[in-house]
Amino acid sequence: MLNEINHLKETIKNSVAEKVGDVELFRNNFLAKKSVIGELFEKFKTIQGDEKREIGKELNILRQTAEEKYEEFKEKYASNKSEVNTYDKSLPTNAYEMGSLHPITVVKNEIIEIFEKIGFSIANGPEIEDDWHNFTSLNFPENHPARDMQDTFFVNKEPFGNFALRTHTSSVQIRLMESEKPPIRALMPGRVYRNEAVSSRSNCFFHQIEGLYINESVSFADLKQTLYYFVSQFFGEREIRFRPSYFPFTEPSAEMDIFLGTETEQDYRLTKGTGWLEILGCGMVDPNVLINCNIDPEKYSGFAFGMGVDRIAMLKYGIKDIRQMFENDLRFLKQF
Ligand code: PHE
Repeated sequence: MLNEINHLKETIKNSVAEKVGDVELFRNNFLAKKSVIGELFEKFKTIQGDEKREIGKELNILRQTAEEKYEEFKEKYASNKSEVNTYDKSLPTNAYEMGSLHPITVVKNEIIEIFEKIGFSIANGPEIEDDWHNFTSLNFPENHPARDMQDTFFVNKEPFGNFALRTHTSSVQIRLMESEKPPIRALMPGRVYRNEAVSSRSNCFFHQIEGLYINESVSFADLKQTLYYFVSQFFGEREIRFRPSYFPFTEPSAEMDIFLGTETEQDYRLTKGTGWLEILGCGMVDPNVLINCNIDPEKYSGFAFGMGVDRIAMLKYGIKDIRQMFENDLRFLKQF
């Protein structure tokens, strides 16, 4: 029996587990009740006399050897398994794809921030407007060309009445003056729509930010100072000029240009060789508009201005084609 034990001991020491299944096989062969060692223990019960001590000792050593081997196998496969299921924590992670703000949003936020510093709040209105808010209340005469199908997208004429995609954010001025008492000092950002031929310089929709200030004794000087402040904050110290213009809802009306110069090819192109680029329209709110909103023009006056965010974004980033901003091409959008 001692021979058998020694032989088994050698077998156990030399055994290897080449796959997970071998571990259980080993246990069945050597450690289970009906294994070779189990049977030896059964046989051991029948042994008598001096031999019993020595064989008992050797049998225990044999079982211990088998148990140690079994533990070794188990550990080997346990650690192999964890290698499969875990990952190397020192490896760089998959790059987390960050989105970026749209250039229009970047510019809009920047403009809002500048005006917020001088007390302007933000107001919003619907993009589908009725005739009153988009035209009539703003002093557009009945036959004004802007009401023409050429410029305006009309929607659902019947049975809802005269609705249109707003052609400017001036409609929000009206909504604000109808619902609030002066003083009013607000900025109105939003998307507007015009039925225009789409090209690199104009789109059928674009973005405006309009400003409105209504209070007692607001003057054109206040308007100019506010816009000087804006230009210096946004564009840096630049020359600006006001040209007389016409809008139905402001009187007097003006357009404001900033001086870019003609040194770079882009500036030359943008300013058509004059060096001046039109940035916004503005003026003193027409008394008729105040009356339409139940504000007493004898007591209050105000100014309004409106600028195109898309054009300013194109200017800021050197974007040559307005359509690029709305094609959702990530290669373009990721640059901002
Ligand atoms: N609503 C004008 C436009 O869309 C801009 C403007 C706003 C002009 C406010 C004057 C005052 O062109």
